[in-house]
Amino acid sequence: MAPVAGLGLTACSAPGGEVAAAPTAPVDLGAEGEVSKGGAKLYRDHNVVVSRDGSGRLKAYSTVCTHAGCPINKLQGTTLVCPCHGSQFDAVTGKVVQSPATEPLAELPVRAVNGRIIAGPGA
Ligand code: FES
Repeated sequence: MAPVAGLGLTACSAPGGEVAAAPTAPVDLGAEGEVSKGGAKLYRDHNVVVSRDGSGRLKAYSTVCTHAGCPINKLQGTTLVCPCHGSQFDAVTGKVVQSPATEPLAELPVRAVNGRIIAGPGA
């Protein structure tokens, strides 16, 4: 009988075997105009979501799921949906809107520089 592959809830990883990780240094995500007021944009390559609240203020969160570490790959409006166990998060507040996750997404520093969105620790 073949050994059963580990299905531990702490070892989800991105397709290709890479472990999902949010930026550890500031990254240039793209033009500031890509995120409209009240909207959000998911930057899958960097595991970051950037949103803009009604007053125009930018927010950024890691999109590494706080449940078991899967990279979140879906944004519906301003709701992030984790592919692994279906947790959902609000991209504007980072809060959980659907379990099994219980912890909010980790907030990242973000700012606009010369019309570009820069996010990540040290931004
Ligand atoms: S890792 Fe389980 S819901 Fe995201």
